Amino acid sequence: MVLNGIELFAHRNYAEFRAEFSPGVNVICGKNAQGKTNLLEAICILAFGHSHRYARERDIIGADAEFSEIRARVTSNGRENTLETRLFRSAKRTVTRNGVKLATAGEAAGTLTAVMFDPSDLDLVRGAPENRRRELDAIIAQLRPRYADALTEFRRLYAGKLKILRDAAEKPTLLDAIDEYNHGLIETGARLIFYRASFVKKLAERAREQHRDCSGGAEDLEIIYLTERGVDTEVSDDAPAEIRKIAAALAARQREHREHEIASGKCLTGAQRDDLELKINGTSARTFASQGQARTCALALKLAERDLIAEDTGEAPVLLLDDVLSELDESRRAFVLGRISGGQVLITTCEPGEIPIADGGRILEIHAGRLVGCT
Ligand SMILES: Nc1ncnc2c1ncn2[C@@H]1O[C@H](COP(=O)(O)OP(=O)(O)O)[C@@H](O)[C@H]1O
Ligand SMILES: [Mg+2]
Repeated sequence: MVLNGIELFAHRNYAEFRAEFSPGVNVICGKNAQGKTNLLEAICILAFGHSHRYARERDIIGADAEFSEIRARVTSNGRENTLETRLFRSAKRTVTRNGVKLATAGEAAGTLTAVMFDPSDLDLVRGAPENRRRELDAIIAQLRPRYADALTEFRRLYAGKLKILRDAAEKPTLLDAIDEYNHGLIETGARLIFYRASFVKKLAERAREQHRDCSGGAEDLEIIYLTERGVDTEVSDDAPAEIRKIAAALAARQREHREHEIASGKCLTGAQRDDLELKINGTSARTFASQGQARTCALALKLAERDLIAEDTGEAPVLLLDDVLSELDESRRAFVLGRISGGQVLITTCEPGEIPIADGGRILEIHAGRLVGCT
């Protein structure tokens, strides 16, 4: 997967911007607050369908503009595609591939695959379950169009159910619709759980290898997928059968909790509560990992995602590294730099000297939302 070039219009501090990238290492350099992160964010919006910071449209769109636009040319399997996203202030968005407007998030899945790593990814280890769930969703949605669509539907239904539960005290007739929502959430939730279970299994293997290498063999990283009680997460490749089984387990849990959910006004069961448990040498990384261990863990997870996408699609995703080198100690920095070959990398830094550039690599210098130098 190679991102050949990008064009931005009214994206954050970029009024109008164009850049071409090398298929190897691209160093995006510049002083603070010049637009380095904003550039990587634009690529995330194309690849994941949302900003890696989950920023709102109105914060992304440049002042005075009605909408922002990100356009890219991407080569995948020897074929060049154009991908374009427009974000509107109303939070509406349009996605176009090769000039054809796409109807659902799933249709764009896989056109551009990317993995982003930045210092806030420490939250993957130490933060709330939501961080790990979002991460998992972002990878799988790139690989399985059906997952991306199930996720959109699940979120819509979940928001609807929450609203019913919240407003039912005032207006009890709303509860007439609750079983319909529960049914939809079980159906879509079972899909999400099936894919999450199968991907975590592979991700865990890759992450364990990466982590072992990064820690010099001293530590063992285990990743366990946590979901609704009663659901068997040891899944086979037989998707329809597994999804039926998971749905049946979810339905049983839903029946148990139905009255309680109505009484409390809260959603008490379902795939929205999933999490990953990360263990280093058998103990919870979230609770016990040191700063250094948490960094290694987040790094291993990201490099594992890259391996997983490469294995699944046959092509390494674009690796986006934002400000990570300055945060890493000598040995982890060497570890990262040793892994950035074998695929396209965009790496931001204030000090371009710290990154070795092989033949064909590029240095792009950004100043105030403009490309001021390129070698
Ligand atoms: N919607 C926006 N419109 C215009 N400028 C923005 C917008 N959002 C952020 N910025 C500006 O972008 C700059 C930060 O860019 P960023 O990519 O984070 O910098 P860095 O090069 O340090 O990574 C800040 O000056 C900020 O004011
Ligand atoms: Mg930055």
